[in-house]
Amino acid sequence: MAEIERARRDLRALIASKNCAPIMLRLAWHDAGTYDAKTKTGGPNGSIRFPEEYNHGANKGIKIAIDLLEPIKEKHPKITYADLYQLAGVVAVEVTGGPTIDFVPGRKDSSVCPEEGRLPDAKKGASHLREVFYRMGLSDKDIVALSGGHTLGRARPERSGFDGAWTKDPLKFDNSYFVELLKGDSEGLLKLPTDKVLVEDPEFRRYVEIYAKDEEAFFRDYAESHKKLSELGFTPPRSALSRKSGNQQKSLLVQAAAGVAVAAAVVAWALLCESNKKLG
Ligand code: HEM
Repeated sequence: MAEIERARRDLRALIASKNCAPIMLRLAWHDAGTYDAKTKTGGPNGSIRFPEEYNHGANKGIKIAIDLLEPIKEKHPKITYADLYQLAGVVAVEVTGGPTIDFVPGRKDSSVCPEEGRLPDAKKGASHLREVFYRMGLSDKDIVALSGGHTLGRARPERSGFDGAWTKDPLKFDNSYFVELLKGDSEGLLKLPTDKVLVEDPEFRRYVEIYAKDEEAFFRDYAESHKKLSELGFTPPRSALSRKSGNQQKSLLVQAAAGVAVAAAVVAWALLCESNKKLG
């Protein structure tokens, strides 16, 4: 865990100095977003580090993020690529002003790359989005909350064929993606066909409206969906879980001890008053 905290600090410094939060989030999402719940293949397992996968059409530009993370991997060799890429995604959201996302290490690296075509195609519609995210075991709410990741970054013609940012401040994680979606086409800002379906489909739109109005609700749901995405096909090791419950137990003990101390002070105070009365 101490190693993870040290890597976290290095990631914060890297992201601040290179302004690369958007592509770090995209790397984490593209490593995880290949998961297939039926065959239990793909997912956040670091396989995107291999040319076979990062050369997929959907991953154009992602090699930049992979290379930026290599010195951190060299400095912290005990941390797997799978954990490092997901930690980079979590830190990218946090340092740009987004919610804190619970991170549990322990993912294993895989050298098996999924076939091309598992990530969503931005030119398609609602049924395609559902097909892709349901395959991962995610829900309509996850689709909308996670699409809010487009509050960061921009598209580049040489990578995806699209051009522009979704929001006016693409280095700030907030709910402006949803606010802009509801405004409709605004000059200079991008809306992919898969962004537009979020306001056209009534089930998706329900969440867009909530998130545009209530940033807290977006942050809460985003943190939950992002954790799910980052843990697809991953069962946290027992040691990580027991460490957590160990910490919870410790905090309960501290609370109980504080309660006993307060009760003892009250009794002592009452006894003192009583003896003072007698003396008087
Ligand atoms: C819902 C389906 C999605 C589609 C079709 C999609 C598609 C795209 C496309 C076409 C780009 C532009 C790439 C470029 O030209 O460099 C992009 C960028 C980006 N996507 Fe998505 N995306 C989706 C979901 C997500 C999710 C779930 C996240 C994160 C939680 C995410 C995070 C990002 C970020 C941060 C960028 C900006 C990268 C940069 O500035 O370098 N996307 N996405």
